[in-house]
Amino acid sequence: MNPFDHHKYRPAASVAIENRAWPNRVIEKAPRWVSVDLRDGNQALIEPMNMHKKQQMWGLLVNMGFKEIEVGFPSASQADYDFVRWLIDEAQIPEDVTVQVLMPAREDLIKRSFEALSGVQRAIMHVYNSVSPVQRERVFKLGREGITAIARHGAEWVKREAAKYPDTEWVFEYSPESFSSTEIDYAVEVCEAVLDVWQPGADQACIINLPGTVEISTPNLFADQVEYFSTHIKWRDHITLSVHTHNDRGGAVASSELALLAGAERVEGTLFGNGERTGNMDVITMAMNLYSQGIDPELDLSNSEEMMRIYSASTGLTVPPRHPWFGEMVYTAFSGSHQDAIRKCLHQQQQDEAWQVAYLPIDPRDIGRDYEAVIRVNSQSGKGGVAFLLERDYGIVLPRWLQVEMAQVVQRESDNSGGEIDSAGIYKLFEKHYIHDTSVMRSHCHQLQDYQLQRNGAAHIVDMHLKHGNETVTLNGSGEGGIAAFVDAWQRYSGQNVQVIHYDEHAIGRGTDAKAVAFVRMSVDGEHISGAAIDADSVTVSFKAIISAFNHLR
Ligand code: KIV
Ligand code: ZN
Repeated sequence: MNPFDHHKYRPAASVAIENRAWPNRVIEKAPRWVSVDLRDGNQALIEPMNMHKKQQMWGLLVNMGFKEIEVGFPSASQADYDFVRWLIDEAQIPEDVTVQVLMPAREDLIKRSFEALSGVQRAIMHVYNSVSPVQRERVFKLGREGITAIARHGAEWVKREAAKYPDTEWVFEYSPESFSSTEIDYAVEVCEAVLDVWQPGADQACIINLPGTVEISTPNLFADQVEYFSTHIKWRDHITLSVHTHNDRGGAVASSELALLAGAERVEGTLFGNGERTGNMDVITMAMNLYSQGIDPELDLSNSEEMMRIYSASTGLTVPPRHPWFGEMVYTAFSGSHQDAIRKCLHQQQQDEAWQVAYLPIDPRDIGRDYEAVIRVNSQSGKGGVAFLLERDYGIVLPRWLQVEMAQVVQRESDNSGGEIDSAGIYKLFEKHYIHDTSVMRSHCHQLQDYQLQRNGAAHIVDMHLKHGNETVTLNGSGEGGIAAFVDAWQRYSGQNVQVIHYDEHAIGRGTDAKAVAFVRMSVDGEHISGAAIDADSVTVSFKAIISAFNHLR
């Protein structure tokens, strides 16, 4: 039998819901964010964070602007207990930040969690038990009533312990673990049993957190589950509805986004989606998704490098290069047509208008990136990228007619070397092929020594000395303009028929350091040749560019 057999699996059950409202809604504001990096994220590491790493992560989360942070599972881990004590004893919790701890619905562990938090000003006590059929039947071997009793007792112990610490402002949170795999009527029933104990209202803030403990369906089914829950739970007006999605199918962010449409107002997740198995919902991706739609994400994500540095130092994990929004490669274009479009849009983008740049959903500078990595050139690239890099890094604006030719030069080189060519490499190729092609710098090549250019009305007369091998040759000619005069001189000297097809010149830089760059394309006895030159003088540069082109003649 083939072990790869889809008959082994069943589709996720759908929820009987009519006239669902969520598909007609749009997200208009950021949810209440909760970081679970120091719990879900930390629990999933090969080497869990030590005190120093937790402190680093905590500092990052606070600086990013998280107002609710789950700081650990202090009843199960001494390291988490010590960290919670450090936060409280060393007065590390800012006034506007609320810490949260997780605990199972077990009396001893609930007691210990409250002890860990003694002296805290405000805290969210997050209690959970598993409620799905598989958990009920195969793990706990209990029916619905038995599982509801666990949840109810957990709620009672939380309420009782909280009463022992009246100086603390306690917020209660309950998670029906495995919610996404649970019959929806039972999920509502078990949460109502908890809320009946807690009596949510002005005196007692309560959060019901719906976890996609294992992501088992498309995000629309999760949204249906959340909408059903939100519209059927008895205490809806007195609770905050939260979601906590995991990424088993790669849809954790989408599930949380649709859950917001379906009625959730709070979202738990981690930086870069760290967490058990495929991880938790990635807060950075979801927040950047909002940002790119013109919605304030209410988190400061402007320093991507620093965030990635601290994340890696504390978790030992790296951010993959194609990770949404923050990956090293996500603002990089190698494709020629993409590069061309980006270059054109960046040229036209105005400071005071909405962002309109093809292939770049946001301005990379917003998260502390520059345009360095936006355009990179390899054998897949075209004229746009090559032109962009020469302009950005060397101030050389290739005329359109030269862009295609230069791109072919670069492509050949990249095909040969098999990889990327950076802008210094592109400049070297430009120099070699157009300014002074050392590969053809043979004895027949000419070099400008000196010249005199006189004007007589419209006519220009040129007298010029060129070095040719070990000799110096003299050329004379006249025409309308310096270039025409030089072409005339060359024709007399060489006997060749020369026509200038394209000539372009522009300044590089400003003031006393300014230089000129010239590009020329000519037909010499029917052969097409191109050349370029850079010089401080705007006439000299044209002569040098033409000589460079002649030097390409076979
Ligand atoms: O994924 C999950 O179900 C959890 C709960 C404990 C909230 O982490
Ligand atoms: Zn989780």
